[in-house]
Amino acid sequence: MLFHKIEEVRTEVLKWKKEGLTVGLVPTMGALHAGHLSLIKKAKETCDKVVVSDFVNPIQFGPSEDFDKYPRTLDADMELCSKEGVDIVFAPSADEMYGEGRRLSNDTLTYVCPPFFYVNTLCGKTRTGHFDGVCTVVLKLFNIVQPDYAFFGQKDAQQVIIIKKMVKDLNVPIQIIQCPIVREESGLALSSRNKYLSEQGKKDALVLSKILNNIKSCYEKGITDVEALKETAYSFLTDKHDMEYLEIVDRNTLENKTKADENSIALIACRVENVRLIDNIYLK
Ligand code: PAF
Repeated sequence: MLFHKIEEVRTEVLKWKKEGLTVGLVPTMGALHAGHLSLIKKAKETCDKVVVSDFVNPIQFGPSEDFDKYPRTLDADMELCSKEGVDIVFAPSADEMYGEGRRLSNDTLTYVCPPFFYVNTLCGKTRTGHFDGVCTVVLKLFNIVQPDYAFFGQKDAQQVIIIKKMVKDLNVPIQIIQCPIVREESGLALSSRNKYLSEQGKKDALVLSKILNNIKSCYEKGITDVEALKETAYSFLTDKHDMEYLEIVDRNTLENKTKADENSIALIACRVENVRLIDNIYLK
C-alpha cells in the first residue's frame, strides 16, 4: 500500500496494533538499493508488519548540498518494496510533513537538537544542522508510525549513535536495530549517492574501504596508536581524493581516543568526483 497522508498511515497502523501485531519502521529517503533491502529483510524477520518511509527530508540538507538532485525513484522503490512484502510505503510531501508554506527553519519549526558534541563532530563539522534535521524527521516518523522497532544501517554510524541517544534521552519507546553495511563485491559501501559516480569514480572510491580495512589489519597486528593508524591512510590517497576526515573514536559515544581498543570504530568521509562518500569499520 502506498500512502501519502499521515492520517492514512495512522489509521492502518492503529488497526494492526489493535490486533496485537508488532510494527517495524525502515526510514529511508528512497532510491532504494540492496543496503535498504537488507534493513527491510531484517524488519520482516523481526516484526509482523513493516512500514518503509520514502521521503527526501529537506531540513537535513544544507543550502549548498544535493537536495534538488537527490535521486527520487518512487516507482522503482514501490516495486522493490512489494517484492519484499512491505506492508506500507509512506511517501509524504514536504507540505504534509512540515505544513504548507512553512519556512523550514528553527525560527518557525520545533527541532530536535541532540547534544552539541554529537552533532558537531565528524560529518557534523561540515554539515551544520544536518543531524538536527535528521533527528527532527526521525522523531516525527516515530510519532506518526509508532513502531515497536526501527531499522538503520551502520553505514551512517554517526546517525545511528545520535538516534539512539535521542531515543534514550527522550524516552522514546522504540527499539533501534542497527544492521551491517552492505558492500558491492569490490568493497564499495552501497549508497544512493554512488549513482553520481562514473565507472572510474567508483574505482577511485574503493580507497575508502581499502583505508579502513588496512587500519583494521594494522590494529589486528598490534598497532593501537590512533595517530599511527590514521597515518597509514596517506599511501592510498591520490589527487582524485579529497579527504574530509578520518577518525578513530568510541563506537558508542563518538569520543576521541589516543589508543584504539575493541570498542573503536574508524570512520572516513572523502570526496571523489566531488561526491561526498562516507564509510566506517569496527576494529573488532
Ligand atoms: O539515512 C537516511 O536515509 C536519512 O537520514 C533518514 C534516516 C531516512 C532520515 O531522513
